[in-house]
Amino acid sequence: MRKALIAGNWKMNNETEKAVSLVNDLKTELKNVEDREVVVCPPFTVLKEVKKVICNSNIFLGGQNMYWEKTGAYTGEISPLMLKDAGCDYVIIGHSERRIYFGETNEFVNKKVKAAFAYNLIPIVCVGETLTQREKGDAFKVVEKQLREGLDGLKIEDFRKLVIAYEPIWAIGTGKTATPLQAEEVHKFIRELLENMFVGKSEEIRILYGGSIKPENISVLMACKNIDGGLVGGASLSADNFIKIVKFI
Ligand code: 13P
Repeated sequence: MRKALIAGNWKMNNETEKAVSLVNDLKTELKNVEDREVVVCPPFTVLKEVKKVICNSNIFLGGQNMYWEKTGAYTGEISPLMLKDAGCDYVIIGHSERRIYFGETNEFVNKKVKAAFAYNLIPIVCVGETLTQREKGDAFKVVEKQLREGLDGLKIEDFRKLVIAYEPIWAIGTGKTATPLQAEEVHKFIRELLENMFVGKSEEIRILYGGSIKPENISVLMACKNIDGGLVGGASLSADNFIKIVKFI
């Protein structure tokens, strides 16, 4: 049985005061939640402050990105070691905004995923197609390439811990959520592909949906067989909305 996971990707939002106030609210309101896992992914600058608030709670901390090297002359980058030091257990890898604005390739994603496991971080690996790719009928092909190249050469014991997030780019920040049918179709495809890559392990892997998740649409999405949680952007910036999303039933 896969435990549902709801992760909030704050993106480039929230300075210290707002971040602390938001997680204080989450900590209080979500303290009795046991049957699902909650993760918040704040910007690097507030990771430690957020960790101080959630350290004795059921909320986990995640980074939004990282570089694959441990240390060295990589100006502006953050290493897996630094994320661990800040208290992270998770890290988002290959978000479409990183791919689009910062040129991240599947090869980068692969190096980052391997580095995350090497430092005991659980990667949330993001995949998803653009609207043009979907309209051309290429959604499955794009997602397959992202997964085959991004997860190439993983160890079987790491593979089981992996989290995938299917985030169709046309649904991110647009208010246009994929219908449960559209999302489940791709999630099912992803699980079959994972089974093909790592026989016997795909049932253990959590596949999250991301793209305009709101309190109003989370339940129908979570009712789908292969949707195991959500990666929430905009709605994770409001304590009220994020709490409702976590408590989806
Ligand atoms: P929105 O929920 O704002 O559409 O963002 C989704 C996302 O990109 C989460 O990583």
